[in-house]
Amino acid sequence: MNILAFESSCDETSAAVVVANRGFKVKSNIIASQVDTHRLYGGVVPEIASRAHTEAISRITYEALDEAGMTLSDIDVIAVTANPGLIGALLVAVNFAKALAAANNIPLVAVDHIKGHIASCYLGGKGNVAKPPFIALAASGGHTAIYHVVSHTELYVIGTTRDDAIGESFDKIGRMIGIPYPAGRGFDALSKEGFIKATGDSENFYEKYKKSAAYKDKETYLPSPALNDGSLDFSFSGLKTAAINLLHRYEQLGKEIDRPLFAARYTYEAVEAVAKKLSLALDKYPGHDLCIAGGVAANSHLRNRLRAVAEEHGVNLYIPSLDLCGDNAAMIGAQAYYEYKKGNLADSTLNASALDKIEAERT
Ligand code: KG4
Ligand code: ZN
Repeated sequence: MNILAFESSCDETSAAVVVANRGFKVKSNIIASQVDTHRLYGGVVPEIASRAHTEAISRITYEALDEAGMTLSDIDVIAVTANPGLIGALLVAVNFAKALAAANNIPLVAVDHIKGHIASCYLGGKGNVAKPPFIALAASGGHTAIYHVVSHTELYVIGTTRDDAIGESFDKIGRMIGIPYPAGRGFDALSKEGFIKATGDSENFYEKYKKSAAYKDKETYLPSPALNDGSLDFSFSGLKTAAINLLHRYEQLGKEIDRPLFAARYTYEAVEAVAKKLSLALDKYPGHDLCIAGGVAANSHLRNRLRAVAEEHGVNLYIPSLDLCGDNAAMIGAQAYYEYKKGNLADSTLNASALDKIEAERT
């Protein structure tokens, strides 16, 4: 089955051709990123995003088909992200996909963006494909949640941030210490520098960090975003506010913050909180494998730390390759395959929605 998929929920316009035939093959995955435009404003400007999607979508569709060596007549299913995301941005690909499907008489499938992120864990190739049931972390600019993935099409929230998302917090704090938007990648690299500086070890820096003088320094204390109530929930706004206050305090005192050490401390608290809650989730759901997805799944410290968590629990860890962590249409194509098989087809009334529709698990 040949699937042409679209994604336009935030600041990346993407079109991909995914072939599902006893496993997935990504034939093309074209991503037109708008980050250079939004960088000027320090974050995504929704109207600019919608306009840029409108400009890019036809071109990248031809590119995706060309690269896959296909034409529309080879396509069996058209898939599109319908929620959640920026409404004006989502509407661009939803309308485009609807028109393309109607004009060519091709079935249309609507995909939830978060389910799509998790489906990136099905694209790893032989021996590296997650199989439900499993526990999944979706960590991105807009999401930080833990899911119980019961089947390819059924999943429930078992833990979530009560306020800010982890990626957004990296972006905001990163901006304050001079890292250009989106700050995640730069934050990752600066933290590494800080961990090495704190421990003097360029390999086992993360493991040694907790015992370092830098971590024990009370002046640069930052709180954990892991809620201490037995739940699987987080609060990233507390960590973010404490970090902002710390930076302001230094500024008022005319002192210069050690950027790498500060970034390392921030990253450590964020990563440890995620590791703690995922550990708890794996305790609650014995025998379930672990998947991590979303832009923040590209974080090197998080990836390494969660390898250890999975190992401690004796379960497999699935992490998408770096190019599949951020927003892309290939992951939407993978999820669309399972939705199609379940008979979840969209009709001509399909609309986009900004809302997150995945429900909490009832216990
Ligand atoms: O999934 P994504 O591309 O878009 C959303 O759906 O939000 O995630 C983007 C987020 C941004 O906040 C970006 O800073 C973050 O992922 N990110 C990272 C890294 N690479 C991207 N955060 C931490 N470490 C990274 N290496
Ligand atoms: Zn995303």
